[in-house]
Amino acid sequence: MRIHLDRVSYDYGGNDESAAVHVLDDVSLTIASGAFATLRGASGSGKSTLLNLVGAVDRPTAGRIYLGDVETSSLPESRLTMLRRTSIGFIFQFFNLVPTLTVFENVAFPLALVGTPRAELRARVSEVLDRVGLVHRRTHYPNELSGGEMQRVAIGRAIVHKPPLILADEPTGNLDSRNGRIVLELIRAIHALGGTTIIMATHSAFAAGFAQYSIEIADGAIRSGEKMT
Ligand SMILES: Nc1ncnc2c1ncn2[C@@H]1O[C@H](COP(=O)(O)OP(=O)(O)O)[C@@H](O)[C@H]1O
Ligand SMILES: [Mg+2]
Repeated sequence: MRIHLDRVSYDYGGNDESAAVHVLDDVSLTIASGAFATLRGASGSGKSTLLNLVGAVDRPTAGRIYLGDVETSSLPESRLTMLRRTSIGFIFQFFNLVPTLTVFENVAFPLALVGTPRAELRARVSEVLDRVGLVHRRTHYPNELSGGEMQRVAIGRAIVHKPPLILADEPTGNLDSRNGRIVLELIRAIHALGGTTIIMATHSAFAAGFAQYSIEIADGAIRSGEKMT
């Protein structure tokens, strides 16, 4: 899925007590379908804001955002919800697993949301648990897992519905270097299967080493499109 931002600005709204925060200022950017892009920048530079805009969680204050041919910035909320469920996988720094669901049920969640038939759901979740190396932990709950294992569950949940776009917000930010590496290798392997566009906010130089685009944000602006070799 090709991603295109056309002159996008984003402000957190001000009110009587607080001034508006201008986070993105007239940003244009294209990421080719199937590419792996890393998003880098100081804390507070707007990486999460940009991912939330691309992921149709927030709408731009100005400008247009396209996921493939669809201009998301003008779609009604119901269509955005559908788009998020079918076309995007999210991976977060703090995993965001549902604590009352097992590993299997957490991974199955996106399929259950769109009413996937039971047999297909079982088969897909089993395949994904195998890929992330957690078949033996399928009946465990998140609080019985290490951070690295929790993030592998979250990766399973992000890929189980085969979305054309994966957005990862500092997925190794809460992991030690060994587990961070395992998680990055897993994301790289998913990308190597082909067909998935991945945008990952990260501080990891290791991660940056296998991205095709390095997007840097500073002072509301972006330096991007650098095709890496
Ligand atoms: N809900 C909010 N209200 C006001 N300002 C916010 C809000 N969320 C984030 N910000 C501000 O927007 C800027 C960008 O934040 P963020 O996108 O989270 O940056 P990053 O992910 O790069 O650390 C920061 O200055 C942050 O303080
Ligand atoms: Mg952030």
